[in-house]
Amino acid sequence: MTRKIRFYDTTLRDGEQTIGVNFDTEEKVAIAQALEDYGIDAIESGFPAASKKDFNAVVQISRAIKKATVVPLARMVRRDIDAAIESTEDAAHRAIHVFIATSPIHRDTKLHMSREEIIEKIKADITYVKQSVDEIIFSPEDATRTEPDFLVEAIQAAIDAGATTINIPDTVGYDTPDEFGAIFDNLRANIKNYDNYGWSTHTHNDLGMANANALAGIAHGATEIQGTINGMGERAGNVDIIEAAVALKVRHDKFQVETNINLKKSKQLAKFIEKLSHMRIAANKAITGSNAFAHESGIHQDGYLKNPATYEILSPDMVGATATLPLGKLSGSHAVAVKLSQLGYEVTKQDMAAIFPEFKKIAEQTSIVGDDQLETMMTTITEKQVVSH
Ligand code: KIV
Ligand code: ZN
Repeated sequence: MTRKIRFYDTTLRDGEQTIGVNFDTEEKVAIAQALEDYGIDAIESGFPAASKKDFNAVVQISRAIKKATVVPLARMVRRDIDAAIESTEDAAHRAIHVFIATSPIHRDTKLHMSREEIIEKIKADITYVKQSVDEIIFSPEDATRTEPDFLVEAIQAAIDAGATTINIPDTVGYDTPDEFGAIFDNLRANIKNYDNYGWSTHTHNDLGMANANALAGIAHGATEIQGTINGMGERAGNVDIIEAAVALKVRHDKFQVETNINLKKSKQLAKFIEKLSHMRIAANKAITGSNAFAHESGIHQDGYLKNPATYEILSPDMVGATATLPLGKLSGSHAVAVKLSQLGYEVTKQDMAAIFPEFKKIAEQTSIVGDDQLETMMTTITEKQVVSH
């Protein structure tokens, strides 16, 4: 049976914590609208207690967004909570995301709070939020380095006080997928009425495992993935929502889940965020990088031209991208002939025997042979009467 998995985007909060990224209010509203259009179920709209400007941005997003749930973030501090509640009064659908760290290192060295004090704070602050807002997301920060028994205790306290979704942050990107999945198994075994609540993953990419961890969470009973577009976020960033959504689609055989994501808009959304964040997408980035559907070597190009599925596990069209066959020193004559015919040259196999060595000479001198270079090559060859047209 297929389950529905939700996507919760935090580009405007964790994403904006990326070094050098600073969106203005107009950009934030435009990003929120693009996220809604992409099919994101919940949008983390910011941290309204940070400044008047941040507060105002959350107000504007709350007014602009109609379908998705708008969710500001708050520490378990009354000033933060009040700002989060007030800034979302006009939202069509709203939730409040509250967090407090639960791991020993955060309790002892950052918060200077005992386990008992943390539990009391969770109970008091969630009860306080519940008086104004029904949907509450609770995050035990640094959950993956929290003692399993205390994690259960903290989460049960949050649920008993009124939390409706529990987010499990791998705050420092430390867990392996099997460890992260096991957290959900343990919660299912120990939290009363586990299936009555939303269970979210929030994975950071410090060891390059953010996507694997988010997917492991889904395989082990999570119902939602928190992430960002282009994997923006604190330090090495968060899981890239586009990568996770595409993985769930391409590996439907394994995960058996559906989402509301409009995959065809993936490339367009990634480019939009790239532009506003001034954070370049690496050429070799999965799905949205400029090389993600580019085949250069002769063996790959030949296979691809015979059947794209030889080297593509998804059609670029599925994510709004296009395949390219860049011509370089490893390209074969099949791809060169196809490119020449796209440029309007009718070349026979016999012609190619003369053209290909000329192509190789140019390719040895440059990284990618462009259309202009091919045109010049063909003019030179024709002039030399190596081939005639
Ligand atoms: O990484 C983290 O722990 C967070 C929380 C605020 C959810 O971003
Ligand atoms: Zn985070």
